[in-house]
Amino acid sequence: MSKRIAWINGQFVAESEARVSIFDRGLLFGDGVYDVATVLNGQLIDADFHLARLGRSCAAIALTNPHTVAEWTSMMHELLQQTGVTEGLVYLQVTRGTAERDFAFPKDTSPTAFAYARTKTLLNDPNAKGVHVVTTPDIRWARRDIKATSLLAPVLAKQFAKEQGAFEAFMHMDGIITEGGSSNAFMVRNNTVTTQPLTHTILAGVTRHIILDIAEAAGLAVEERGFSIDEALAADELFLSSATTFVLPVIKLDGKEIGGGLPGPVSIKLRELYIARALQLAPPQDDR
Ligand code: PDD
Repeated sequence: MSKRIAWINGQFVAESEARVSIFDRGLLFGDGVYDVATVLNGQLIDADFHLARLGRSCAAIALTNPHTVAEWTSMMHELLQQTGVTEGLVYLQVTRGTAERDFAFPKDTSPTAFAYARTKTLLNDPNAKGVHVVTTPDIRWARRDIKATSLLAPVLAKQFAKEQGAFEAFMHMDGIITEGGSSNAFMVRNNTVTTQPLTHTILAGVTRHIILDIAEAAGLAVEERGFSIDEALAADELFLSSATTFVLPVIKLDGKEIGGGLPGPVSIKLRELYIARALQLAPPQDDR
């Protein structure tokens, strides 16, 4: 069992003691950014990529990142030590801080920064046998490249999915799939892996980036373009990716079986290669 210890504004405290004000702008306006990094074998995977993205998210909303990459990294290591989480995730959030409610930025407010760690089964995720996905209109704002904490649209999309017994919602704009509620979306056709290009339309997934590298190295063609729901329904395979799911085959879209309702060879291979790379970065530690 991991310990419920969080980090907030420089202090490690019991999660129940980690509190923010009702005037925190993260709460009032969703005026904040976050990131989620993978933990495997007690180690962080690709934390530099996640911290770089956190830095970009801060810069995009003119929020001063309160910590350097080195400071964030050492805090995260300490958090893993203190909580004992060995497989799962670290969640990081920065808000513009606490001030009298006013839409424009307050003067002289320091950011609120906090983090927690959670255990989650990643290597033996039962969802690796394939998940169901539904489509829903993408009603988010125009800067989805910023990992902002204003997440009402994905909350509604994922609730819609849940109500239909699906694991994820693929959001679409005029029939073109953008990404999942909290994942990137991929299609496989004739050994070509297709996914949205990096624009303001989607979040630049760290896992997406690694998967495209792995796919190319494995001799697959990679095509960065939007694909339609109709194309997805006719695809050989579909899969999704995120730091906390790696690669998950999608075996049903809007109730229609994809690839005969079984994970396809490309999705299985990419998951295997992704995990092999992750285990190289974070090899199992012996119990000492
Ligand atoms: N979500 N797209 C969206 C909209 C996301 O929220 C996420 C991640 C991704 C995948 O990014 P990455 O590979 O860097 O995890 C794509 C995280 C896990 C979350 O909100 O919990």
